[in-house]
Amino acid sequence: MTYQQAEQLLQKYGQEHLLEYYPELNEEQRAALLADISKVDFSVLENLGTHAQRIMGKLSPADALTCEDVEAHRAEFEKEGLKAIRAGKVAAVLLAGGQGTRLGITGPKGMFDMGETSPHTIFSLQMDNIFDVVKKAGCMFHIFVMTSDINDAATRAYFEQCNYFGYDRKKIHFYEQKLAPACSKEGRIYLEEKYKVAQSPNGNGGWYSSLIEAGYGPLLESEGIEWLNIYAVDNVLQRICDPVFVGATILSGCACSGKVVRKTSPEERVGVLCKEDGRPAIIEYYEMPTDLAALRGDDGRLVYCYGVILNYLFSVKGLNAIYSDKLPCHLAFKAIPHIEGGVKVTPAEPCGYKFETLAVDLIALMGSCLAFEVVREREFAPVKNRTGVDSVDSARALLKLNGVRL
Ligand code: UTP
Repeated sequence: MTYQQAEQLLQKYGQEHLLEYYPELNEEQRAALLADISKVDFSVLENLGTHAQRIMGKLSPADALTCEDVEAHRAEFEKEGLKAIRAGKVAAVLLAGGQGTRLGITGPKGMFDMGETSPHTIFSLQMDNIFDVVKKAGCMFHIFVMTSDINDAATRAYFEQCNYFGYDRKKIHFYEQKLAPACSKEGRIYLEEKYKVAQSPNGNGGWYSSLIEAGYGPLLESEGIEWLNIYAVDNVLQRICDPVFVGATILSGCACSGKVVRKTSPEERVGVLCKEDGRPAIIEYYEMPTDLAALRGDDGRLVYCYGVILNYLFSVKGLNAIYSDKLPCHLAFKAIPHIEGGVKVTPAEPCGYKFETLAVDLIALMGSCLAFEVVREREFAPVKNRTGVDSVDSARALLKLNGVRL
């Protein structure tokens, strides 16, 4: 893109200030800035002012396959799941495009070392869990790894350096999700540096469209992949392509399913799988009306109790059917470092917006969803913060509880 083309494009969106420091940049920086501008997704700005307008439908609790139900049918579910895995119908999708800002790291979150006496990165711990299934099924399944521009090269290099953890290299595929610009309250896109537009990953909602745009559609088809198990990088107890979960989903006839844990308290910061106007929906903790979050049944248990752990199974057919449907865009009000008056400022308080679409919003579009309860202590050890709740410390304790030697 030339300077003139950039100028024209920016005029169209009222963002000419992005070229404010162009005259003082060197050649390399000028080229970097123009390349950045050419890739900016200006369309997200249309969502400014819409975030306060989420109109909630009528909520009702979801039915779930409880842990007891799962135990009662374990053998049947596992048999069905293993059959699908052995037939190559199931693949995994690791969502690793996030930034891990709460953890305070700059590289890929999956490279965070959970080890105490020897190295155990999150990636390696999750691969260990994958090998449990591989051993049981007697075959390897495809794994797609979604990265972002910010951590793609480091993630690929790390997998290569680890010799793909002994996995079949030909079955591990990387692809990048898109970035979205960050802007002030007034909608002025920020510069992170004088030569760099402030951008961050556009949320995990675009995982399937990015997979298809990266050219993996034909592979899904030629390999006969019918189910995609997406999972977050930041749960070190994540069970991936769990045959029991896969089998239960297939037998349920639902278009997707989600692993859930029972919420520990009304305040726990997890999204809740329930129904909105009769359709499956995940309501984020900050959207859930407090009276409903605290509602208890006659047995004393929370009525809206099924918290999601970002482990979902989607039917590819179902995903293709909703491919062109638009996901809602969520605005996060954050402290965003940026250039102001020619100097870099790092605000302590939120100052502007980041734009994200979320995988949880796909559930409502899919139409039917099986809630599959798992034992929290066995499958849910989120690593969001350094210390305290959902932290490196709490996840280490849970890993040890599950017999992992760190
Ligand atoms: P989080 O919502 O916890 O975001 O991601 P994050 O970026 O990792 O961490 P913070 O909020 O900056 O501290 C949940 C899962 O979704 C993935 C993450 O990698 C994690 O597996 N994710 C998130 C993406 O793949 N892309 C995104 O744009 C955001």
